[in-house]
Amino acid sequence: MITIIGSGKVGGDAALFSALKKLDDQILLLDVAKGLPQGEAMDINHMLSEQGIDVEVKGSNDFADMKGSNIVVVVAGSGRKPGMTRMDLLKINASVVKSVVENIKKYADNSIIIPVTNPLDPMAFVTYKTSGFERSRVFGMGGMLDLSRFKQFIHEATGYSRNSINALVIGEHGENMLPLPRFSSISGIPLSTILPKEKLDELVLNTKQVAAKVIELKGATVHAPGNAISAIVESIVRDKKQVIPIATYLDGEYGHSDVTIGVPAVIGKKGVEKIIELDLNDEEQKVFDKGIESVKNAISGIEI
Ligand code: LAC
Repeated sequence: MITIIGSGKVGGDAALFSALKKLDDQILLLDVAKGLPQGEAMDINHMLSEQGIDVEVKGSNDFADMKGSNIVVVVAGSGRKPGMTRMDLLKINASVVKSVVENIKKYADNSIIIPVTNPLDPMAFVTYKTSGFERSRVFGMGGMLDLSRFKQFIHEATGYSRNSINALVIGEHGENMLPLPRFSSISGIPLSTILPKEKLDELVLNTKQVAAKVIELKGATVHAPGNAISAIVESIVRDKKQVIPIATYLDGEYGHSDVTIGVPAVIGKKGVEKIIELDLNDEEQKVFDKGIESVKNAISGIEI
């Protein structure tokens, strides 16, 4: 069973995409808000019935219902309001995530946990440390969402089919995120040979800033995060071994330890099956290290 803790817009969308992809027979939406997960589940089930898809979505306020889940997505906590950074949510969401993870330990201690709550990288660290799970079973969704935006900007800049575009974004899911034109391509043709540097710099900046723009316009980002979550879940449940940037605990990789940040990894049924180390140039490493510093700073300010 796939459990999604937090049944607001993103959690609901993650359940919807996961059900449409038939990623499990049962999907559980959990939330402390009375009625919200139940209503969300009913609404999705009505849609599934019309489509003839026999995936059961359940809504509950009882954490015990997640018993036996093999994947638990954690979206619980506050979302950004217009003008806020993800880091502004640090203190309030750290306590929410800690209490949620205590329940996961109690009811689903063999599960893979996918933190989504912001600020993502510190929350993934809190999840890893609080759960006591091996690091392969705790990894946050951030870079997958960032690369979906980077791809859109590449699509807009080139006019080429989205299907031909491969893009990579690693580092902090935040102010120091690292879109990587050198490791992005159009059907294998390096992006850096297709677009001039000043254009690439513009696309990188847009990728960093666009979430705040969406929040300003519509109040929250919903479909892109919901989709990114379901894509990661799919790589696990179908053992696809997709290479996906996820926020995981580093133990020497990229020259860093005891910190959680976005890096490319092979995602299969066991979770993180391999972390892939890229040969970053000085400029890329500098941004990556700035993200590390920002996450370490945030971690030092919370009690775990
Ligand atoms: C975003 C939030 C989910 O990037 O961090 O949309």
